[in-house]
Amino acid sequence: MNPVIVSSLTKRFGDFTAVDDISFEVRRGEIFGFLGPNGAGKTTTIRMILGLLAPTAGSVRVLGMDARRETAKIRPRTGYMSQRFSLYNDLTVIQNLRFYGAAYGLGNAQLQERIRAALQLADLEGREHLKTGELSGGWRQRLALGAAILHEPEIIFLDEPTAGVDPLSRRTFWDLLYRLVEEGVTVFVTTHYMDEAEHCHRLAFIRRGQIIALGAPSEIKRHKMRGEVLEIAPENAARAVEVLRTARLEGALPLESVELYGALVHVILPEARKHRKDILRTLQNAHIRVHNMDVIEPSLEDVFIAAMQ
Ligand SMILES: Nc1ncnc2c1ncn2[C@@H]1O[C@H](COP(=O)(O)OP(=O)(O)O)[C@@H](O)[C@H]1O
Ligand SMILES: [Mg+2]
Repeated sequence: MNPVIVSSLTKRFGDFTAVDDISFEVRRGEIFGFLGPNGAGKTTTIRMILGLLAPTAGSVRVLGMDARRETAKIRPRTGYMSQRFSLYNDLTVIQNLRFYGAAYGLGNAQLQERIRAALQLADLEGREHLKTGELSGGWRQRLALGAAILHEPEIIFLDEPTAGVDPLSRRTFWDLLYRLVEEGVTVFVTTHYMDEAEHCHRLAFIRRGQIIALGAPSEIKRHKMRGEVLEIAPENAARAVEVLRTARLEGALPLESVELYGALVHVILPEARKHRKDILRTLQNAHIRVHNMDVIEPSLEDVFIAAMQ
């Protein structure tokens, strides 16, 4: 049986539906990504899975138990890193770990051993006596992860663990998640960074409380992508986006979307090859030179943008 089973889960706040009849399962030993923009319903879902919030309808089973009625039995076997992970900033690194270890009821010998493992995982050895508030965002996030796995949970739930840290720290954090998975831990992680989708074994994409895509990255690409992605390298990408969007709104080009990717522009359209010339002409008429233009494999980000149109 899969360790997390979410069935027709719904949460309403007054007449606002934050989570709207969603169903999915998390498989043992995978990194399951729960992706979506801010306000999509990620935290609300995680809180219902953890039994911290009562659903309006539907149910959740965690490790074969009812999330709402058997919360006390589930808790020691799961870890949770909340969105504003609650570390004490005026405690040192080691004091925070001791505090969390004690809260999980770890005995002295076991606590020493687990703290050592957490410090090693988070690469915080030698920083035990620094004040937590003085650590950079990336270090604090790794410490929070270390604290969440002290009691060796089978599943960890991480709510936007990489929000607001630099790309390098985000990369390091994902490497840590892979290490946990190698040790047999199941990881449920939310993020609003669409580029992190490719790091997940499977994922659900949630928007306005509804799941609009579910599966492995390759499956989602296969099923969800209508149209092709044309990547354009113009001399002025921001200006090219403006020109193409205007042409699209005026119905001059059959573009579904136009997005800026650094110095490149991605347009999604049916049968991209047929319209290359029209696009080129449109840009040339606006005096924008085009260095290169190619139909490319869509990234998951392209797929989500297409699915949201
Ligand atoms: N306690 C609450 N009362 C009313 N609305 C809420 C409450 N909690 C969350 N919401 C609303 O539900 C929606 C989903 O919120 P949330 O689950 O926090 O989104 P996410 O974590 O994806 O950013 C948001 O529009 C939010 O304002
Ligand atoms: Mg949230």
